[in-house]
Amino acid sequence: MSMSEQLTDIECSCKQAVAAAQTLEELDAVRVSVLGKKGSLTAVMHMMGGLSAEERPLMGKRANEVRCALTQLLEARKEELHRAHLQSKFAAEAVDVTLPGRTLTQGTQHLISQIREEIEDIFCGLGYTVEDGPFVETTYYNFTALNAPEDHPSRSAKDTFYVYDNAPEGKQAHVLGESDVLLRTQTSGVQVHVMEQRKPPIYMICPGTVFRPDTADANHLPQFTQVEGLVVDEGITFGDLKGTLDYFCKEIFGKDRATRYRPHFFPFTEPSCEVDVSCGVCNGSGCRFCKYTGWLEILGAGLVDPNVFGYVHIDPEKYSGFAFGIGVERVAALRYDLADLRMLITGDMRFLRQF
Ligand code: PHE
Repeated sequence: MSMSEQLTDIECSCKQAVAAAQTLEELDAVRVSVLGKKGSLTAVMHMMGGLSAEERPLMGKRANEVRCALTQLLEARKEELHRAHLQSKFAAEAVDVTLPGRTLTQGTQHLISQIREEIEDIFCGLGYTVEDGPFVETTYYNFTALNAPEDHPSRSAKDTFYVYDNAPEGKQAHVLGESDVLLRTQTSGVQVHVMEQRKPPIYMICPGTVFRPDTADANHLPQFTQVEGLVVDEGITFGDLKGTLDYFCKEIFGKDRATRYRPHFFPFTEPSCEVDVSCGVCNGSGCRFCKYTGWLEILGAGLVDPNVFGYVHIDPEKYSGFAFGIGVERVAALRYDLADLRMLITGDMRFLRQF
């Protein structure tokens, strides 16, 4: 076979092979078999040296033309196969642009946070400041400075989560047990912190989480929210306490709800009372929700005990004050007639979405 025939042959068979290649890999194999180091065209090029001086430029030209044509052909087919590959890939991952998009559901604040903020708004409107306090407290702030005697039952490990023992010097503190450090059982300790830091007049509230070793049931949660209130000024009387809390109850429950002040005992207030709000389910006539009393308890309050002023060096002859502690979960339960407090913590969206 003459070199010219060989070139024609290579050109022809290469054209067929390029057309037959179905994948980029197959196409590349064709390229290598023709133009590669050991390819058929490369081999022919190497044979140019053996030609006569007249033939060499002619064959050289012809071989170059074949190489150019085949290179172009390979490039064009490569392009084609690449496009086909992309097309089939996109078809497989097709997106239906007419489908409706995913709607982002907008979250809301939890009911307890909403009510807590509402309570803050009410008292801010009366000129109170909003304070913060530690969740982990010492017995001094949670009990002692609040006038609770050493043997007060609320100090026992049955009623208080202790963090570690007040272990003797050099000994490792034990986890749990009666000790110095605890999870606060009430926000009342913040009263002491604020009175230590500031001189009267004091008008403050402190919302926050408190902890008690109660098993969760319809009326109890081991962790709940209180809003503490404290007023210390000259000439504060029980009338101020009553006027303030009456105003608060009407703001939060509505003007038609009545309040009732029942004598009670707290170590850090004297006199003390608990405040009830008329039942919203039966309007005070008595039903299962209010245990047929017509009333529901929502907070504890009283005039600051002079002994507490003693701990923070405030002169009880000059100043007097009142304090209160509102149960936020109870406010929520009373306002929305929640039959079970656990609904507030189980995260059931069917419940939470209603608020
Ligand atoms: N700390 C009391 C409780 O948890 C509530 C309270 C606060 C009572 C302030 C009087 C004054 O029950």
